[in-house]
Amino acid sequence: MDARGVKGITIAIVVAVLVMPFIYHKHLKCNMSAIVNQVCSEYKAGIVSGSLCSDLCEQNSIHLGKCLSTVTDKKIYDGDWKGMQVIVKVNMSWFEEFEKRKNITDNHAVASFEKELQSRVSTLFGDCPRCGELALLLATLGDGNSDGVVIGSEARTFISLLQFIEPTMLMILNDSKHTVDFYGYCGGLYALEKVPKVVSKEFGAHWEPVDISFLSYGDPFQEMLNEFLGGVRNAVIFAMQYCCAVLNDALNLTRYHIFATLFQMLSPSKREKFELAYSMLDATLEISNNPYGLVRQCDGHLGNFGITNNASVKIIDLDLTYPHVFLKTLLEQKKCVSDEECWAGNSEGCFSLCNTSSGFCTPTTVVQGVHIICEVLFPIIFRGPNILEPQGHNTTFLTKAISKLGLFCSKLPVVNSIEDLRREILAVKRRLKTIEIRSSKKC
Ligand SMILES: Nc1ncnc2c1ncn2[C@@H]1O[C@H](COP(=O)(O)OP(=O)(O)O)[C@@H](O)[C@H]1O
Ligand SMILES: [Mg+2]
Repeated sequence: MDARGVKGITIAIVVAVLVMPFIYHKHLKCNMSAIVNQVCSEYKAGIVSGSLCSDLCEQNSIHLGKCLSTVTDKKIYDGDWKGMQVIVKVNMSWFEEFEKRKNITDNHAVASFEKELQSRVSTLFGDCPRCGELALLLATLGDGNSDGVVIGSEARTFISLLQFIEPTMLMILNDSKHTVDFYGYCGGLYALEKVPKVVSKEFGAHWEPVDISFLSYGDPFQEMLNEFLGGVRNAVIFAMQYCCAVLNDALNLTRYHIFATLFQMLSPSKREKFELAYSMLDATLEISNNPYGLVRQCDGHLGNFGITNNASVKIIDLDLTYPHVFLKTLLEQKKCVSDEECWAGNSEGCFSLCNTSSGFCTPTTVVQGVHIICEVLFPIIFRGPNILEPQGHNTTFLTKAISKLGLFCSKLPVVNSIEDLRREILAVKRRLKTIEIRSSKKC
């Protein structure tokens, strides 16, 4: 073999070594159709059930689209259900939970079902006045085919599903305007409303994948292309903002139609930013404004909020959205030697302090949702300067006012009642309104 041949083979091996693990990982994250086949064959054998099983396995009215999973143990796809855009999810640990409950037979179903529902409800919301109603609501949802009788496969399936916070909280908060609608489940798979926009993609710090229809989502080439396009977009915005900041008076970029149009296409307007901010505050209040007890989002980053067609914010990822009672138990059961160990969800969202004399974390968190939104997320959303408002003092005013608002929020106490939470959120919204009015007057 000549030198060129050796070189060719070496390049092929290097490419294979670099690309193969990537493709393999993608394959593990994006094998939902194999899981659907497994669940459907168990449904046909009478082992699992669920309100969507007939549509998924018999009518074939759910069609999977792109793979959106970020990790291998939680499969996420978009898709279509009777002409509606949906998201289909499954947490792979559901199969382990289901395995543990295989011994629930038709004879034992009713008794164990009611007992399990009551115990799950009290783990989540404690001894709440309307917890009985919640257990009844869940009992109705657990009767997969709605025939008024709960059989073994329904009890096994539904109790296993209730071990997961996201589907459980989606069902409990399904009346809320600020969580995505829960459409139903089959085995561990569940379908929800797909929102047209994810906040981090429109307002966030990083570019996220775009649709390139001729490539499948799991394609490594598309990922590279996305990274590249994202880089270009961020570079264009950065360069324009930089030029504008440096040459503010000498060069007003908005005079050049092409720049103004390009910037407008790439970034949201000030009005959209304020609308988003108000609606995020409403979402934080509304998830707690339910009949059973206060609720906390312990993973409140911009990628977990979506925006509907009528500009309303909906929470799209509820894996770490906990009722207060549940969160308190999680924290107080944690052993610790320092404060750094006392958190639930992600470490920034719901943290408490370490009681070094008892060696356990304190049950009450140091901050809550309104603090994270106001102090961490607002500065990202309102980050300036914006070349469409090139008068330096205006963008500076907005950035300064938002950081002052953050300071105000940092002094708000952590509250434990819906009335106090409503009062705090109203106070933040009022201040935000004043900032909006002042910043538009300065234009
Ligand atoms: N209801 C939804 N509507 C639109 N996109 C969604 C929805 N749910 C998830 N996604 C997309 O899938 C991604 C991952 O979903 P998410 O539930 O946040 O999972 P993870 O636990 O991996 O963060 C999101 O960032 C978003 O891009
Ligand atoms: Mg997420």
